[in-house]
Amino acid sequence: MSQLKRVVSGARPTGRLHMGNYFGSLKNWVQIQDSRQYDCYFFIADLHSLTTAYENPQDVGNRLFDMYCEMLAIGLDPDKSILFFQSQIPQHSELFLFFSMITPISWLERNPTVKDMIRDLDLKDNVNFGLIGYPVLQASDIALYKGDFVPIGKDQLPHLEITREIVRRFNYLYGETFPEPKELLTDIPVLAGLDGKKMSKSLENTIYLTATEEEIDTCVKKAVTDPGRVYRQDKGHPEICNVYKYHALFSPERQEELKGACQEATIGCTECKKNLKLTLNQFITPFREKKDSLITSPETKNRLMEQLRISQHKAQDEALRVITEVKQLFHFEVFHE
Ligand code: TRP
Ligand code: SF4
Repeated sequence: MSQLKRVVSGARPTGRLHMGNYFGSLKNWVQIQDSRQYDCYFFIADLHSLTTAYENPQDVGNRLFDMYCEMLAIGLDPDKSILFFQSQIPQHSELFLFFSMITPISWLERNPTVKDMIRDLDLKDNVNFGLIGYPVLQASDIALYKGDFVPIGKDQLPHLEITREIVRRFNYLYGETFPEPKELLTDIPVLAGLDGKKMSKSLENTIYLTATEEEIDTCVKKAVTDPGRVYRQDKGHPEICNVYKYHALFSPERQEELKGACQEATIGCTECKKNLKLTLNQFITPFREKKDSLITSPETKNRLMEQLRISQHKAQDEALRVITEVKQLFHFEVFHE
């Protein structure tokens, strides 16, 4: 077996991937994969989606292949990483059950990420067991591959803390089995929409990784700039402008120049927004074209599915090895040869 440290991470197939997903974690996945310094396990967390989408499972199902293609389009590669779907490896659910025995409910009730989900989705008293158990399933995802590192967005830190607590308790009760995983964060803070509000499908302020030119136009139109800059000749304050924040992210090499031009009023907001549209288009077009090329033909789909099966087998082998070890620790080994 390889001596490299393990990286494990997952993404929920809740909607089209957007820039928040990309800069918050997926870009990091690709960099980690290409560094060749780790064994990487990356998966689509389709079971996790059911914690909130259980009434409409077809919405999750319809997204799966699309999401896989989007992951390939940004550079994830089943020849370099192990890519798979969580639901296809039954041991995730099995380890979840073992972990649920050693997880005090109080740890879950104080979890701020789940509290946020409950508030955002307005669930109040309608919280299902699966949603409260969300971090326990996430702990199983990571421990099932003995993950050492987990590239995630900052919002996921409370979940990872629970993973560490569960793993620590497991190791204490049954002997050293799992590493305590550490986060790998990107230096990009949570990316707001161009209107300054939290990115959300319903606000139509989300810039998708595979956005069309029209979609980019609509988003940039809504961008909130420096409200003090009413006339073209007014000097601007780029530090409070969302368009500037996006320029800084997408074309950092031109950041200083633009800052000066805005402060000196040598550029107007209309032109500045037009430049942002061009930049976004240039950035997004290769992703969109790559994804389109993958989803159009049935032959390509067959080839991709075959590749995925090979990758999934590797995850399956490892998952079986670890779950067997766990069952032995619970003294269920009598059933094994
Ligand atoms: N909760 C993560 C998210 O919403 C997705 C996820 C599920 C995950 N299992 C994981 C991330 C394991 C890292 C490791 O983004
Ligand atoms: Fe923002 Fe650009 Fe207008 Fe300056 S010129 S306020 S950076 S949109």
